[in-house]
Amino acid sequence: MTTATAELATRVGITVEPINGFIGAELKGVDLSRALSDDEFAVIHDAFVRYEVIVMRNQNITFEQQMAFGERFGQLTVHPFAANHDDHRELIVFDNTPDNPPVSTDCWHSDETFRACPPTATILRCVTAPQRGGDTLFSSMTAAYRGLSEDMQRYLHTKTATHDFKPWRPMFNTRELRERLWQIEERFPTPHHPVIRVHPVTGRRVLFVNSQFTNSIDGLKPDESAAILDYLYRQASIPEYQLRVKWEPNMMVAWDNRSTQHYASYDYYPQPRKMERVTTQGEPVLGVEGAYEPERIDGNGMIMPKPKKPAGGRTREFERL
Ligand SMILES: [Fe+2]
Repeated sequence: MTTATAELATRVGITVEPINGFIGAELKGVDLSRALSDDEFAVIHDAFVRYEVIVMRNQNITFEQQMAFGERFGQLTVHPFAANHDDHRELIVFDNTPDNPPVSTDCWHSDETFRACPPTATILRCVTAPQRGGDTLFSSMTAAYRGLSEDMQRYLHTKTATHDFKPWRPMFNTRELRERLWQIEERFPTPHHPVIRVHPVTGRRVLFVNSQFTNSIDGLKPDESAAILDYLYRQASIPEYQLRVKWEPNMMVAWDNRSTQHYASYDYYPQPRKMERVTTQGEPVLGVEGAYEPERIDGNGMIMPKPKKPAGGRTREFERL
């Protein structure tokens, strides 16, 4: 946090407490049941882009108030496939019960990267928390980028990847639905996003492929693409890059969908779990411009430094005893 933002936070009575080394901050002193001042939102937004996931407890609010909070980040968007709320298409209610098990959430992903402009923010509020399980895991893709070797960063520098709404394709299983699918394909043409994204606010580089929606790296043979993507997908599973949120009722979490992935653990079923979600309009995904240069902008945390080479070069550890 800059000195100016820290002073602003003190003035508006919000504290920002980082949770883990790379990702996550808990905000205290925020009341989303009333309209936020511009200064309050500036502090919240700074924490949002800096720590990538922000957690605010005790937000006993209506979904209209949640939508109003979301609109501070940008225009709300409507998911093309999910079961949207009947009266408020921007709202998705995940109301999982024994008769309505969760679908396709136990998979690392960023939301809706099959769109040309995937959402900037996803804002999720817990209405009913299971007694056990049902955590959401987050992973910092800025940390994941920094954890790659420089040779790998250089290799990926100008690559693009094809994204698709592949988990939903099996839904279109009748002639009538396939006609609807063609309309959707025209409306959402397959995007080719940079594999290394530049965050438009922080300037940090982000590893921007995910197992749910990325199909292939452009220009590679299918087996080459599959091998590299499999390696890149595994970065989300590295514990140091992660935050694990244990939900409680009225907990609100907003994540920067540009710089994170998430995974909703399925281990609570058949206990009930109810969540309300809105997303906000994103921007085109921009890559790094120009020839490769190492990243020079600070992020959170520190990647483990590489061990020093022993003096004299090629001596093996057992020979140094
Ligand atoms: Fe998601």
